[in-house]
Amino acid sequence: MVSGNPVMSERVAVVTGANRGIGFEIVRQLAAAGFRVVLGSRDAAKGRGARAHLGGLAERVVVRRLDVTSEAEAAALAASVERLFGRCDVLVNNAGVLLDPKGSRTLDLEPEVFRRTLDANVLGPIVVTKALVPLMRRHRYGRIVNMSSGLGQLADMGVGTPAYRISKTALNAFTRVLAADLAETNIKVNSMCPGWVRTDMGGPNATTGVAEAADTAVWLATLPDDGPSGGFFRERQPIDW
Ligand SMILES: NC(=O)c1ccc[n+]([C@@H]2O[C@H](COP(=O)([O-])OP(=O)(O)OC[C@H]3O[C@@H](n4cnc5c(N)ncnc54)[C@H](OP(=O)(O)O)[C@@H]3O)[C@@H](O)[C@H]2O)c1
Repeated sequence: MVSGNPVMSERVAVVTGANRGIGFEIVRQLAAAGFRVVLGSRDAAKGRGARAHLGGLAERVVVRRLDVTSEAEAAALAASVERLFGRCDVLVNNAGVLLDPKGSRTLDLEPEVFRRTLDANVLGPIVVTKALVPLMRRHRYGRIVNMSSGLGQLADMGVGTPAYRISKTALNAFTRVLAADLAETNIKVNSMCPGWVRTDMGGPNATTGVAEAADTAVWLATLPDDGPSGGFFRERQPIDW
């Protein structure tokens, strides 16, 4: 177990929406790579349940409740990370929702679906990032990974899941704007597409396993100081916006 004493020397990572799917696998891989990991879960009990499946790696992982749509919970999380570790080196904005009904078209969709999707997939990452960047600035180091999607690529925009697509395009814009804001720092901000992944969201017919999906996130989370910022990647390779 991580004790109540601050652990000052080891790298600390926060992963949102990490009680299942790709986020959970990112937690596992970061813990295996030697990070102290904060497993964010909007239902703390589900987060604790997930942690129990980490075997020996569980001792490197703490669970914190975090609904990314709550500014209060984001602030509480940042305060908790500061108390426990005194630092935050990595943030993976992984939490996301796909709420579009099957086959939906933009103009048929209820505005409420757009609102809830943008709240979780765009405002959520902005709010959580805002809460944690001060801890990155303190140690002049940070790696922020925004879990986007090929469905948000303007270069390949098509029909279906309009709220989700628009949210991921906006998330990519956030990556670009924030990377520009932080260009003079050693805080790097990148977007990634994990592929079509076998999770509750991706379904059983998806082509990519969670281990492969998480690999690019861990790569971006551990970029060297001369690594890229403001990019969009899949399988560790740059892709079009
Ligand atoms: N699977 C794919 O093919 C695919 C492809 C491209 C991009 N992505 C992206 O990859 C990320 C992870 O997807 P996944 O496939 O692992 O999805 P998933 O299996 O549906 O898991 C989504 C996770 O996000 C959490 N979450 C949703 N809303 C949240 C909120 N407001 N606050 C905190 N946590 C919240 C969920 O928590 P609960 O358990 O409480 O619901 C869950 O832990 C998402 O951003 C998704 O858009 C996935």
